Amino acid sequence: MIGGGYVGLVSGACLAAVGTNVTIIEHDPTRLNRLKAGDIPLYEPGLEELVAEQRQAGRLAFSDDLAAALRKSRAVFIAVGTPTRRGSGHADLSYVHAAARAIAAHAPDGLLIVTKSTVPVGTGRQVAAIVRQARPDLTFHIASNPEFLREGHAIADFMQPDRVIIGLEDSPTTPSTARTLLEQLYAPLNGPENRLLFMGLESAELTKYAANAFLAMKVTFANEMADLCEATGGQIADVTRGMGMDPRIGPHFLMPGPGYGGSCFPKDTQALATSARQAGTPVQLIETTIAANEARKRRLAERILALAKDNITDCTIAVLGLTFKAHTDDMRQAPALTILPLLHEAGATLRVHDPQGMSTAKPLLPDDITYADSPLQAAEGADMLLVLTEWPVFTALTPAQLATKMRGRLILDYRQIWQGHDWQQAGFHYHCLGCGTHRGSHS
Ligand code: UDX
Repeated sequence: MIGGGYVGLVSGACLAAVGTNVTIIEHDPTRLNRLKAGDIPLYEPGLEELVAEQRQAGRLAFSDDLAAALRKSRAVFIAVGTPTRRGSGHADLSYVHAAARAIAAHAPDGLLIVTKSTVPVGTGRQVAAIVRQARPDLTFHIASNPEFLREGHAIADFMQPDRVIIGLEDSPTTPSTARTLLEQLYAPLNGPENRLLFMGLESAELTKYAANAFLAMKVTFANEMADLCEATGGQIADVTRGMGMDPRIGPHFLMPGPGYGGSCFPKDTQALATSARQAGTPVQLIETTIAANEARKRRLAERILALAKDNITDCTIAVLGLTFKAHTDDMRQAPALTILPLLHEAGATLRVHDPQGMSTAKPLLPDDITYADSPLQAAEGADMLLVLTEWPVFTALTPAQLATKMRGRLILDYRQIWQGHDWQQAGFHYHCLGCGTHRGSHS
């Protein structure tokens, strides 16, 4: 497994857990030493324990010696980063290409090379071409096996996959070494209803982008419907429940929020839009999704400023949640990175709390923000309180608790975690996304 990042660590540890011997290759010496010391440099529930367990069982190891690892391997996975290249929507494939060259230098005959990183369509064939050019006489197989791991649920997503997408270079229906090996590897994760889906390389690469872009579009649609509900007196929870009961739509990814973020949706929508434009078939829905999501974060900041009227410089805002969603320490493309600087720039005083993300967030946010040890401490003396992620420790708070801490009485719940409470009775004004004020919600 080349790459001791998020995808490499989760995939490596999970494959080890189902009986495969895995060596994770990490070139960054600092990261490698941390991993060897059992210190997992990211927050993912259960990962540290799983890695420790699998190392103890002798199925998982960390190393920087790719040549030695390849000598005893039948397959190698490329799980390196594919960030967005600055100034363009393109995925930066330099790490993938470097991995392909390194593999070519040491590959044993018959090796299966699998791209696990999210890569634009065509990358699998590029990897094959790099290896073929360097080692014209080598027999090897190539496959694309994109991951569908949600941060915070990655281990369960890997162990109980909805589907395992496998793209093969040769016709996916004919028996091949690559197909057999991947069938064996994933057999312990495959339920009675076959979850392995074989297809061509390009189709597998596109499936990953198409799935993430579709979900990003679905969330963005819910966000826009929430705005429409607010403007017209509708309740988004009722609307999305009504929509979601149609099996053709489904209930998931319809929860309005402050805009999607994270390491995947923003990057993958950009990369898909760029690939599509390049191919001469622009995906306009996704281009619009990207623009709408960006605009949303700024618009929500403007809305908060409007609520403070002319008193923003005297206004203390408590913010619960900094990361792009709950159950992670990941700040990549988090809406907080757009919203908080705009509030700060306008003169608001910010008191924030995040259960996992504060140390990652600190260098990315303006200096004079107060980082509180608990959500209630963040609420202390606040005029308004803004919820940006849906951690259970936030959900558990009650109006009575907040009333003892806050100076003002305005709640901006941008994840709809507190809809059930009687805020009015506690003297609060409660705003949530998509909760129109003309009519109530019916159960
Ligand atoms: C996503 C995909 O789900 C996963 O399959 C893929 O491989 C990687 O990208 P992740 O980035 O961990 O996973 O986050 P996810 O839980 O999918 O949420 C993405 C964003 O959409 C978050 O910002 C989240 O807050 C937002 N979201 C999601 C909503 O605002 N509303 C929803 O109903 C669902």
